[in-house]
Amino acid sequence: FVKLGILGCSTTFLNANTTTVKISLFPAFSKPLPIPPILEPKIRDGIKEFNLTVQEGSVEFLNGAKTKTFGVNTDFLGPTIKVQRDDTVKINVKNSLKENTVLHWHGLKVPGISDGGPNRSIKPNNSWTTQYKIEQRASMCWYHPHTHEKTGYQVFMGIAGLFIIEDEDSNSLNLPKEYGIDDIPLVFQDRRFDMKGQFLYKQSMHDTMMGVTGSISLVNGVIDPILEVSPKTIRFRIMNGSNARINKFMFNDLREFTQIAGDSSFLPKPVKMKTLLLASAERAEILVDFSDLAGKEIYFGDGFSNKPLLKILVKNEKPQKFSIPSTLIEIEEYKNVATKNIREFTLNMRPGWLAINGKQMDMNRIDEIVPLNKVEIWRIKNQQRMPHPFHIHGCSFRILSRDGKATFENETCLKDTVLVYGNETVEIAVKFEHESTKEFPYMYHCHILEHEDAGMMGQFIVKR
Ligand code: C2O
Ligand code: CU
Ligand code: CU
Repeated sequence: FVKLGILGCSTTFLNANTTTVKISLFPAFSKPLPIPPILEPKIRDGIKEFNLTVQEGSVEFLNGAKTKTFGVNTDFLGPTIKVQRDDTVKINVKNSLKENTVLHWHGLKVPGISDGGPNRSIKPNNSWTTQYKIEQRASMCWYHPHTHEKTGYQVFMGIAGLFIIEDEDSNSLNLPKEYGIDDIPLVFQDRRFDMKGQFLYKQSMHDTMMGVTGSISLVNGVIDPILEVSPKTIRFRIMNGSNARINKFMFNDLREFTQIAGDSSFLPKPVKMKTLLLASAERAEILVDFSDLAGKEIYFGDGFSNKPLLKILVKNEKPQKFSIPSTLIEIEEYKNVATKNIREFTLNMRPGWLAINGKQMDMNRIDEIVPLNKVEIWRIKNQQRMPHPFHIHGCSFRILSRDGKATFENETCLKDTVLVYGNETVEIAVKFEHESTKEFPYMYHCHILEHEDAGMMGQFIVKR
């Protein structure tokens, strides 16, 4: 992609002439990067109230086609919810689709009753209101549907949005903080289209096994967008919102950047890197110094597919220097894990059959009963060659080891999703601070959404 970045052409697309509809890609890097708007809450009795409507829409991703989509309060994706620690939020979710859906707050430590799992399905034209307190560290979480066996399809259609939590640390640390200006959210998703320019989502045996991927990449819902920034240090909050793809993010000049946060918290200290690996549902915040590029351009892209995904135009202004804090936060959580309570999860995969501990997801079965407020070790064993991003609801956990060795430095923050590589065993320390019930249990699952939908998921309750 180092070379491709100069050409700027990012896809191998269907030949437009073979279809009756004339469809083509818009010229590469001609559209501005949209920034999902921050949703203004109504404040009533000190409670921040948000309205989210899941709805149908259509978007002209491709020149000559209106692609049918789903979105939240808009055609595709949804607004950003931004809250402070200790806020109480009330969220009204309205389903305007013609099918059941539900929104799950990925990464939020909320009780099972508010969690928005598959058991909490909202029928068409119905609403669900939930209220909870934000009791966790500054981080970028997100919301997405969790509809039984249809999560992959509904996310692919466009239902997803960011959920940013700020706290004392994030407010006081010297970091770029102006949303959309120098603190920029980037949601990466891949898509494939049929000959009529509609999303092509089917679950063939191959798609179920490999996950649905596509050769067209969207950043905040646009193919090949362009972003203008000042010649200074910019903070990117990156999310891999793809159903299945693993990204290796990098710049086309291989410049170094600094990761400051992962899924559920800041890192203890900044970590320098040239490539950033994120699996489906993982997030990272990075700082990038563009002060040497006034009046120039640079590409951010994916090193696995060799594609530039975002063009960054640096304004011809006076460069500004910035010094990154040398330490970020102290993570007291899971400091000295002494427990001998180990729970094992083995990921299973045979053609057309995906499971955990030999069992496929069953909404009528509770797989684990977990004690409230007790640290446990969860040991996740991957016995296939394919890596699986393992996610757990209702918690922020810490990775203890990968095959008995320390994990990567950029994963020493709190996490809610961990990529378990082929034939690897990962141990995490985890604690749940809220209860979940038989009616509204928590889930653990692979975040390759086709694996989740095909049964690589389990349910658990947390109780005193
Ligand atoms: Cu991001 Cu159970 O989900
Ligand atoms: Cu989740
Ligand atoms: Cu998987």
